Amino acid sequence: MPMTRWLRRSAFLFGGMLALAGCEFTGPQSTLDYAGPVARAQGDLLMWSYWLSWLVMIATFGVLAYVLVRYRRRRDDPDRMPAQFHGSAPLEIGLTIIPVLIVIAVAVPTVRTIFATGTRVTPEADDVVVNVTGYQWWWRFEYPELGVVTSNELHIPAGRRVILNLDSADVLHSFWVPRLAGKRDLIPNQNNQLWLVADEAGEYYGQCAELCLGAHAYMRFRVIAESDAEFDAWVQAFTDVAPQSAQADPQIEQGRQLFATKGCAGCHTIDGYRAGARTGTPDFPNLTNFGMRTMLAAGVVPNTQENLERWLRDPQEIKPGNYMPQLWQADAPNADEEIAAIAAYLLSLGSRPDAQAQAALGGSNGDR
Ligand code: CUA
Repeated sequence: MPMTRWLRRSAFLFGGMLALAGCEFTGPQSTLDYAGPVARAQGDLLMWSYWLSWLVMIATFGVLAYVLVRYRRRRDDPDRMPAQFHGSAPLEIGLTIIPVLIVIAVAVPTVRTIFATGTRVTPEADDVVVNVTGYQWWWRFEYPELGVVTSNELHIPAGRRVILNLDSADVLHSFWVPRLAGKRDLIPNQNNQLWLVADEAGEYYGQCAELCLGAHAYMRFRVIAESDAEFDAWVQAFTDVAPQSAQADPQIEQGRQLFATKGCAGCHTIDGYRAGARTGTPDFPNLTNFGMRTMLAAGVVPNTQENLERWLRDPQEIKPGNYMPQLWQADAPNADEEIAAIAAYLLSLGSRPDAQAQAALGGSNGDR
């Protein structure tokens, strides 16, 4: 009876451990669900070491079990002494050579993988270069050859190599898109490089993987891999930003004016917001084409009118620790109306009907 209880308890404990370990191999942030050659090479190396470890463990425990059973003291012959082999040359040589072979079996593929995925590469014609800057707690993505600056959503063309120059504006961060490549640190004043390829179009989750205080856990991002045509259209949306004028929709127009009068424009850049002059500074998230983003607050919640209003009303509620100020006191008059207007304005930025209408009115400066 106690034996079955013991078995049941063990099964329960083992099952609980599996549940706690979150045995999932295909989640959006699983390193084992490879979506590109860099992640695959690193994953294959991991699995090779993993199965080799199993082999070593099975062999070691197998020998141990064999010795325990074969040479244990016997009731009918308690004084029997097994043959001694102290100083056995074959055994000593074997126990030296086998570990050396194991180390070689791990070291050769490791070094090969490091050189294949981790060495600095020189951009070629087909590559996309992105300067990535980590900030507490968001990401700046600048495409120096394409004239695009954006934040928190990295668009890349599927199947092409993307070279990321990593830098930090403050503390250490770490760039990590588990399904595409291993982590790499962003260190102030040290240009680290990481390259990756997404085999197929899709959305890949990214996460800062170096404790950077405050909202570190909320320092997420998205990599959006798309076809060459979609990527080019996305780039075009940035190079063709029309200078803004009065908007037809009164709520959006109210939001556009509040963007300056409420102080948003002091930090945040919106290309085309003011003809001839930039709003904001590079050290805050660039909101150009903000309406095209899928996520808000560095990948924390979907970018919807409702979430954007929540964010503007109390940024700490959605992302505790962040540096976005709360612009409306709880009892501020017109708060609801103003917040809704700014949210509507920001969501209108990008390839939305309003922007298209503006382009049709002849406001486009895209014919360069
Ligand atoms: Cu940035 Cu953690």
